[in-house]
Parts: sequence; C-alpha cells; structure tokens
Amino acid sequence: MDLVFSVGILVLILGTPYSSAFGKGESNVKTSVFLSPKFELGPGSVSNKYDYDIDFPRGHIALKSFDAEVVDEAGKPVPLYETYLHHWVVARYYERKYMTTHTSNDGHRILEDSDFIMVRNSGTCQRNILPQYFGLGSETRRTATAVPDPYGIVVGDPAEIPEGHEEKWMVNIHAIDTRGVVDKMGCTECRCELYNVTKDEYGEPLRSDYKGGLHCCYDQTQCKLREGFEGPKRGLYLRYTVKWVDWNDLIVPVKIYILDVTDTFKISDDSRGMIPEHHCRIEYEVESCSTGQNYVNGCLDVKKTSLPMQKGGYVIYGVAHQHSGGTGSTLYGQDGRVICSSIPSYGNGNEVGNEADYIVGMSTCYPRPGSIKIIDGETITLESNYNNSRGHTGVMGLFYLLVAEQLPHQHFTLSSRSSFFMNINNVFD
Ligand SMILES: *[C@@H]1O[C@H](CO)[C@@H](O)[C@H](O)[C@H]1NC(C)=O
Ligand SMILES: *[C@@H]1O[C@H](CO)[C@@H](O)[C@H](O)[C@H]1NC(C)=O
Repeated sequence: MDLVFSVGILVLILGTPYSSAFGKGESNVKTSVFLSPKFELGPGSVSNKYDYDIDFPRGHIALKSFDAEVVDEAGKPVPLYETYLHHWVVARYYERKYMTTHTSNDGHRILEDSDFIMVRNSGTCQRNILPQYFGLGSETRRTATAVPDPYGIVVGDPAEIPEGHEEKWMVNIHAIDTRGVVDKMGCTECRCELYNVTKDEYGEPLRSDYKGGLHCCYDQTQCKLREGFEGPKRGLYLRYTVKWVDWNDLIVPVKIYILDVTDTFKISDDSRGMIPEHHCRIEYEVESCSTGQNYVNGCLDVKKTSLPMQKGGYVIYGVAHQHSGGTGSTLYGQDGRVICSSIPSYGNGNEVGNEADYIVGMSTCYPRPGSIKIIDGETITLESNYNNSRGHTGVMGLFYLLVAEQLPHQHFTLSSRSSFFMNINNVFD
C-alpha cells in the first residue's frame, strides 16, 4: 500500500503542476456535458434512433462515470411519465478514416458495414448483441456509475486502434412518449395490442404468442391515445455527463461484462470441437401468477442462467438493469456466494427522479477491491426476480460488472515498475 500511495503523489507532482491538484486525485478528473442529437416525440409516439460519431471525450483516457437524463429543448429535465426512457446505450467503434457517409431520410447517418468495427465489451453475448460500454433505462437519474480510483475504463489507446481507423462512439436512444395514452404501463412495456402491431420493424409477422416487447414499439410506432387527446410534438435530447482522466500508468484498467439472464448458454460439440454458444434474447415475458404455474413462489417470477466466465478478476462495481415489476437481481458464484445484489428503487412522487411506480434507480455494488473475486473459468449464476402479481412483457434482466484483472499493487509490480523508477529518476535529476 505504501508503494501505491507514494506513486500517487509522484504523478500529481509530475503531471499537474498547479496547486489545486494537491490533496486528492479527483482534481484531475475532467467533466464534459453533451447533448445527443435531437429526437422528436408526440403523444404516444416512439423514437428508437441510432446516432453515430456522437460528442465524446477524445484521446487516450480512462472513463470514470457516465450519467444521463432526458431534457427538453429548454434544457429542462422531462419526467418519466411524459417521456419514458426505455433505454439508452452508448457503444464504441472504429471507423475507417476519410470514408464518406450518407444521410438517411430522417437525418440519421448510415455507415457501411465494412468500415465499421464494433468494439464490444467483454460480456458473453453473441455477435453484436449488448456490445455497449454504457447503458441504462428509466433508472438512469439515480444510479451511481462512478468507477472508484485507481480504476478506470481505458479507451482511445492509439496502440489498439487499427491502422487507418479512428475510435468513435454511437448512441441508441429508445424513448416512449406516454402523454395522453390509455395505459401508461402497457405502453412502456410495449404491449403489441396497444401499438396495433402485428409485424416487426422489418415487416416480418410476429409470433402469435408474442404479447409485447421491442418488436412492437420500434421507431415511429404509436401507442394508443385516449379519445380526442392532443398534445404538442416536442424536441428532446439525452443530456450526458462524462467524467474521465487522462491516461497514466497508475490507472488500473477494468473490463466491462454485460450478462443477460435470457442467455441460453450451451456448449455444442461439433466437428470443430466444443463451441460455446450464447444466445441472449435481451428481453423476456413474465407471466402473471394467476395464469401461470408460478404461484408456488408467492407471485415472484425467478429467472436464472448460469454462465462460465473464461476470465475472472476482482469485482470493482456491479449493477443490474430491470424494468417495472423488478424486485432485484443477484449474481452468485459457483459456490453460491453472493457476488453482487442490485435492487431497484421505485419513485413515489411526481417530481423528476421520483416518478411514482417507475424504477428511478438501481442499487450498486462497490465491494472493497480484492474482497470479491471471480476465478478464471468459474461458472456464475445470474438471477433476476420480478413481482408477477400481474404479467409483464418486454422485461429485462441484465447485469453490468466492472472487473479488474489485477489489484493496484499487482498492477504496479507487474506492469509499471520500470516507468515508476523512471519517474523517480526524473524527479531527483
Ligand atoms: C390497426 O392496424 C390495422 C391494419 O394495420 C388498421 O386497419 C387499423 O385501422 C388499425 N387500428 C387502429 C385503431 O389504429
Ligand atoms: C407484488 O406486488 C403486489 C401488488 O403491488 C404486492 O401486494 C405484493 O406484496 C408484491 N409481491 C412481492 C413478492 O413483492
């Protein structure tokens, strides 16, 4: 520990010659507030847009937090009962330099596939499912996202960016305007009958047993309004606040894992050998306990999946993502120990950030670094619970984990000793 402390002081002296930097390292933290491209919503309508090359801090940096909320054109925060934030997702990608982009009818840029390389998180879902670095939903205003020191999500490392490419960021924002709708909760749960939808976004007929979810509330769909209700269309933004520090070799990198309770993981044994196959469906349906066979649990729907973690490490941060009706989610180790439990908090008022019956925050885990370790190859179990005294469609059970493969003292001994001594030489020259 002594080593870590003195190294910290050293960097402050070397890296930040102004006096305000002394004391705590936090003064190195930079903050930027950005607005997403504008999206427009009228009563009952849905916007689900993908915007590329969004404003984001540039350079070789370590991200320390990412907070967001929906605001109107005057910059005023919008309550969830007017604009339900179904989800927002921010993802990292590499794009070939000097490429041309063209613009679609709705003003959104289209990129050719071959020029676009998604930089996935370390999570286990297949292909480009849940690839994001950050993402939350209605709980975004009251969910802590800070990455504690000396950890950070390291991005923009020039050594990692493929030749001829640059690193960029994209955002997907899915919001539902529920002003004047007949059933606010039904619209937020994307119940197909409220959207009068029988085909998905691509014109494919929906399964007859598909009652609700993302396939019924895609971009430009319309939830059922009360007879005669009229309201203005309005412009909205996701306002996001990013904190980061410039990269230095005292930062201990964390990996992001996003796990999905719908992942039907299996190992298929084919000619190529044992192939792990993940199939994350992102959302699922919770049947009401009065119709289902779930009454045994006292109207608690319990969904679980077990996933092998090829690589483990020390858990630095954890949080679940659930929708209304969620009662909490827990990640267990192979021996049954609790790795992290995350519980939703529901609003009980009218004001922004406390909207009654919406999930307005999720509790987070910040275990003392070193105290919770996932072993390489360990099979962990994700459990997501919902109150099914009534049924829910399109619910989610994600778990977001930040894992450090080394603790600070290990990190410095293994990777930074040479630069540490170089720094000492600089100081005493
Ligand atoms: C629902 O959709 C059908 C066909 O797409 C259409 O004929 C019908 O008018 C719609 N109903 C309402 C209430 O919008
Ligand atoms: C589920 O919600 C109902 C209605 O709000 C409540 O009465 C019941 O106690 C809840 N059950 C659980 C398991 O949380």
